[in-house]
Amino acid sequence: MTQKLLPLNAKSYVFACTNSSQDECFKRLLFGSSKVYGAAAMRVKKEDFLFLWNLDSDLLYGVFRAATNAQFSIVPEAWERKYPYQVKVEPIGKIIPLKDAKKLLNSMGVERSSPLSRSKTISILELYRPSSLPINQWFEQLAQTEAARYLDISSGPKSWQLLAHVKKPEVAIEEIPRLQSTTLWDFPRQSYGGSPKGNNKYAGVTPAELIWNLVWKYTEPGDLVVDPMCGSGTTLDVCKEEGRRAICYDIAPPPNRKDIVKNDARKIPLPDNHVDLVFIDSPYGDNIRYNEDPNCIGKISSETAEFYDELEKVIKESNRILKPGKVLGWLIGDQWVKKKFTPVGFLLYARLTKYFDTVDIICIARRGQSSNTSLWHNRARRFNFYLRGFKYLFIMRKPLPVEKKNEEPREITWAYYKRGKG
Ligand SMILES: C[S@@+](CC[C@H](N)C(=O)[O-])C[C@H]1O[C@@H](n2cnc3c(N)ncnc32)[C@H](O)[C@@H]1O
Repeated sequence: MTQKLLPLNAKSYVFACTNSSQDECFKRLLFGSSKVYGAAAMRVKKEDFLFLWNLDSDLLYGVFRAATNAQFSIVPEAWERKYPYQVKVEPIGKIIPLKDAKKLLNSMGVERSSPLSRSKTISILELYRPSSLPINQWFEQLAQTEAARYLDISSGPKSWQLLAHVKKPEVAIEEIPRLQSTTLWDFPRQSYGGSPKGNNKYAGVTPAELIWNLVWKYTEPGDLVVDPMCGSGTTLDVCKEEGRRAICYDIAPPPNRKDIVKNDARKIPLPDNHVDLVFIDSPYGDNIRYNEDPNCIGKISSETAEFYDELEKVIKESNRILKPGKVLGWLIGDQWVKKKFTPVGFLLYARLTKYFDTVDIICIARRGQSSNTSLWHNRARRFNFYLRGFKYLFIMRKPLPVEKKNEEPREITWAYYKRGKG
């Protein structure tokens, strides 16, 4: 009955602080997050319920409501710029710290990387009810937008006891990917979350989580992302959801995607030094028939120098449009056809290093391929070859002007890498 008082879309988020950052949270009535939980933080909408977990004292402060939608860097100088994914908050009544926050959040299966569902939100809200207030009135007070907006923090922390059993694991109300932490990325599904990203039936479609990781690692909300060979539009869909601007081209845009511009990636209609991230999942040779356009690079065999010469034009254009210091992510796989191996990745990488510095090389597990059948696995065993199990994601950075050598393009120097200082 009490639960009816909360809107059906009610949800909440847990922000974290430490003893040293807590004061600023209360003084500014501002919660912030680092990039690690940035994607969840940026989904906070005005009036969502919020809690603040002090990781040092293990107290969970509540109840707050978001006074604004989350924004990037509302108060740029807050917390010495360490937590720029921010939301303005207002307390609802007296702020109460709950003891043993870690135990509480664990017992409810709460992750800081995603919003808490309505039922989990209700369970936590119940714990904050002042003993003098009947439960109905407590939920009425919570539902009011004009709740107390003065800062009054209860001095003694409150013990809690979950009365109702909280289902665990409960399906998260919104699936938000995590930032990868190693150089091996394996995405079992092409997409994530409630809405499709690109078209998982498109031949050669990119795993959406891969693009999500590049977007979150190398751009900020509002930045401009370009995909010059965007196929079914996975980059566009990821960027829209994450609050990035995106311009996506293809030589043959799918008829249902009016938001993809027809263009040859070898000449991109954008000014120099303009873009914050370029992502490309190019053809790997002539193994897939993408379209009938004669300018499709996917018609050229990766066993020929021409293939790399044409891709080098795309590399050059990507370098030209990127702002100095910004990143190009390029996904490509090797080829084994008719008993012949072609190291497509290494050959492309040689071209990339003429224009870019290497940030890192990621191994992407190949999934959902047409050759992933027992017939092909048996053939590989019987006839002594391997099915392609991975792709390369080359993460390259456009050098800053001061780092530029006089000669351009630069020589490929394989023994070039020197240990940086510090
Ligand atoms: C591997 S697919 C990209 C898949 C895409 N990332 C997705 O998730 O759907 C490669 C794309 O490159 C495009 N392409 C090939 N040659 C091109 C060119 N010269 N200019 C622009 N796009 C081109 C193809 O049409 C194809 O859609």
